[in-house]
Amino acid sequence: MTWELIGNRNVIEMEYAVRGPVPQRAAELRKQGKKIISCNIGNPQALGQRPMTYCRQVMSLLEDPSRIARERELKKALAGRERQLGLLSDAVIETAERILAGLGSGVGAYSESHGAVFIREAVARFIDRRDGASGVRSDPERIYLTDGASEGARHVLEVLISKPSDGVMIPIPQYPLYSASIRKCGGTQVNYYPDEDAGWTLSRAALEESLEQAKRQGTDVKAIVVINPGNPTGAILPEESIRDVLDFAALHRIAVIADEVYQENVYGGVFVSFARVLGERDVPLFSLHSASKGFYGECGHRGGYLEVRNPPRVKGANTDLCAILYKQASVSLCPNVMGQTLTYLMVNPPQRGSEPYDLFVAEREGILADLHAKATMIRDAFREMQGVKCFGKVGAMYLFPRLSLPPGTSDFDYCMALLEKTGLCTVNGSGFGQKEGTQHLRIAFLPPKDLLAEVLPAWVAFHNDYVRRG
Ligand SMILES: Cc1ncc(COP(=O)(O)O)c(C=O)c1O
Repeated sequence: MTWELIGNRNVIEMEYAVRGPVPQRAAELRKQGKKIISCNIGNPQALGQRPMTYCRQVMSLLEDPSRIARERELKKALAGRERQLGLLSDAVIETAERILAGLGSGVGAYSESHGAVFIREAVARFIDRRDGASGVRSDPERIYLTDGASEGARHVLEVLISKPSDGVMIPIPQYPLYSASIRKCGGTQVNYYPDEDAGWTLSRAALEESLEQAKRQGTDVKAIVVINPGNPTGAILPEESIRDVLDFAALHRIAVIADEVYQENVYGGVFVSFARVLGERDVPLFSLHSASKGFYGECGHRGGYLEVRNPPRVKGANTDLCAILYKQASVSLCPNVMGQTLTYLMVNPPQRGSEPYDLFVAEREGILADLHAKATMIRDAFREMQGVKCFGKVGAMYLFPRLSLPPGTSDFDYCMALLEKTGLCTVNGSGFGQKEGTQHLRIAFLPPKDLLAEVLPAWVAFHNDYVRRG
């Protein structure tokens, strides 16, 4: 007899487009030997971005602390030729020793449930430095180190959503972590619409309208998610929009989930954090950051943090939300410890004047300049594609152009055909949600420039042929 499972519909029905049908087809084609350029996901090192030397040097010593003594011996024996021979700098060795001392038992032991305290303290100092005189200091006890930002977002949504009519406002288009997690928790997704023609800016009126509509349908909105800089749009929010969201949340007594994983990816634009603008407003704020993005691109190491401000009391539990988040973290015992150490390095980069500083800065600037140059190459190609418009500033790692496709075709058809023809794997706009009647695709601007130079003319030719022939 075959087993038949009555599974959890919330899990069975949730969708995750960035690993959806287009990327699945790409994987099949790759198996058949076709050259595929994976632009469906913000996974920089998969497309050749080099890790930051400083981080990996420190982490190599954390994995194998016996090397520390050997490195020191070698440095003594080969004094004067350390650089020439590629030996590790004192600063790298000392940082590794400091981390090992902070951890106490190395990277192979569980840490505290919400992460090692010295790393949470370093995160709090980073937030205070980043936000300057915001007036409110970050509290290490309200910081949760996580296996990437995804885990932080999931934990928050799991506690906020208690019944099917509990709603969470998300921007459309959005990163499908949010739609999928709301679905999985059995809550209601409430869409709000940034204005594409105005560079994906947010208006208070659009927020009020979506909240009103949700209320009319009996939805009890608990939180609003804002992704800044945006995925998939790449939009960078000005401070006024952040203030608008916080005032809106304060007025309607809803929490804010600020996904700020792309805070370093602004290419000359300015990132302003929600924590900085929050000030004395009594709004529960959950801010997320990650080592996966920026110039680190360490997606596989799963490092990140969640910071909570103004945690609400939890009805019936005689505690505030932080205690519940701590309990949730405890169920997984702890976030992976190498990811935690990477988060420590992210919030504690080499100091000016230290030996690793110059290389660190050169690598950081090189990676960010390269990302910007690649985004510009792709935007330039859009100008040669009939009916393609790309709105807003360049931020994050994505472009989300609007397509004007022949009647009867969808952006999904287009992305599939583009993949088959050129090997370029993108994601159809419908996978992120989009305003009715519009079509888009999202491309991560990560492939090396020479690969882009090769594929972009093929894309332009494919596109113009596709829209002409329908
Ligand atoms: C907006 C946004 N939030 C969160 C994540 C997840 O990041 P992490 O690797 O830290 O889980 C991503 C990944 O692409 C993202 O784009």
